[in-house]
Amino acid sequence: MHKVFTAKYPSNIALVKYWGKYGNQLPRNASLSMTLCKAYTEVSLICIKKKNPEVKIEYFFEGSTGPAFYERILRYIIGQNEFEKLVRNYTLKISSKNSFPHSAGIASSASAFAAIAAVLLKASNTIRAGQFNEQASRLARLGSGSACRSFYGPFSLWGKLEGVKDSSDEYAIPVENVHKVFKSMMDAILIVDDSPKKVSSSKGHSLMKEHPYAAARFRDANKNCKEMLSVLRSGDFENFAFITEREALSLHAMMMTSREHYLLIRSGTVKVIEEILRFRKETGLPLCYTLDAGPNVHLLYPASIREQVHTFIQQDLFNDLKTVIYDSAGSGGTVLKVNNGKA
Ligand code: PMV
Repeated sequence: MHKVFTAKYPSNIALVKYWGKYGNQLPRNASLSMTLCKAYTEVSLICIKKKNPEVKIEYFFEGSTGPAFYERILRYIIGQNEFEKLVRNYTLKISSKNSFPHSAGIASSASAFAAIAAVLLKASNTIRAGQFNEQASRLARLGSGSACRSFYGPFSLWGKLEGVKDSSDEYAIPVENVHKVFKSMMDAILIVDDSPKKVSSSKGHSLMKEHPYAAARFRDANKNCKEMLSVLRSGDFENFAFITEREALSLHAMMMTSREHYLLIRSGTVKVIEEILRFRKETGLPLCYTLDAGPNVHLLYPASIREQVHTFIQQDLFNDLKTVIYDSAGSGGTVLKVNNGKA
């Protein structure tokens, strides 16, 4: 007997950043992200019944077996109680592919672990009634922290925040009552540099343990999450931009002031940011930027001004970019059982 499942989950871009963790992938502060749409990972899982209890897991990324991510996936799957019976009773063949190019400044571990956690949870038959997203978000977090936010859209909150009902360090929750201005947000991902990251995010998180500014950073991020929640309800774009841009620079300021300090932004990053600020000042249009842990710039704007933004990118930015990926706010992912037949 074999069973086949598929899942398709998007990446997300944090507006308020998660940077610093404790315990088993728990965040030192709350974070809030916009879920993407076109940048996703598709995973298919074939479960083939076996008699021998020996672990048999195969993993293919875009058709080939890459040892680096395989080790991480294997450790992850074996480490979760929820998947124990599945691993014991079935050979698991997992194939994963991304809709976006590697090193494009899109968090591929977020979409990958969201899809992998969802597909394995669905196959494991350990879902508590009405709690699929909560369970899958928790399991995805154990693979990659930011992955837990890819289950809801257009915005998702992760981390315990005083006064915010149901908020938790264990899993993300959807942001409710979002103003219509923010429901149609677009994200033009401006690729300044597509070379592989020099310092991993896990290294960055660990450097927050002895960071001299850590306590202030965690307080500030929690405050920014609360303010962002109220901005998303009221539709106040000016404050949305203010918080988002300050958060992006705070994240990079943490990297630059860690004990082992480092710089991920490039001269092209600064040039593109300055052009965005100039364009906003001249036109008064509602747009702003954010950065992930890398040199590429995410330009955020409502769909109503997409024509002006496309022209701006083509005319004023294109020479400084490798490429642009046009994405928009999405609503999360899907997981399906596609077949249940004889092998
Ligand atoms: O999920 P991780 O462990 O790869 O960390 C992600 C950290 C940032 O992308 C920089 C910020 C965030 O909140 O997504």
